[in-house]
Amino acid sequence: MKTILILNGPNLNLLGKRQPHIYGHQTLVDVERLCQSVCPDGFQVSLKQSNHEGQIIDWIHEARETTCGIVINPGALTHTSIALLDALNTYEQPVMEVHISQVHKREAFRHHSYISLRADGVIVGLGLDGYAAGVRRVVALSEER
Ligand code: DQA
Repeated sequence: MKTILILNGPNLNLLGKRQPHIYGHQTLVDVERLCQSVCPDGFQVSLKQSNHEGQIIDWIHEARETTCGIVINPGALTHTSIALLDALNTYEQPVMEVHISQVHKREAFRHHSYISLRADGVIVGLGLDGYAAGVRRVVALSEER
């Protein structure tokens, strides 16, 4: 069984409650269900969320040995964290970057992503469907290998 890590950064534990006009009413439990539902046989997802940068970096290091791809919504760390970029640069499988909201329609500080320097694809503004698209792409890339 191949495992795809669905990694979520700060404040995404409040998905469904936090600014629902921007992020919608669904929760991370819904994200996990959706991602699992688009996995073909032989693939499974593992969803994790932390508000702590170091924890996310530790999970990426662990994922080097245990996963076939990462779908990551780094939250605001997208725009600030060179350490997270460096961690993803140690990871040798596909990485898809997801943002629920259309960040390019929002404040200028959300327009730059350190993570995009590493990501194999970037999905922005599709709501939770962006996670499903990320999973599908990881599966496709992983089957090509
Ligand atoms: C986000 C966009 C980021 O700018 C923001 O800090 C988030 C969520 C999104 O999913 O749209 O926390 O990554």
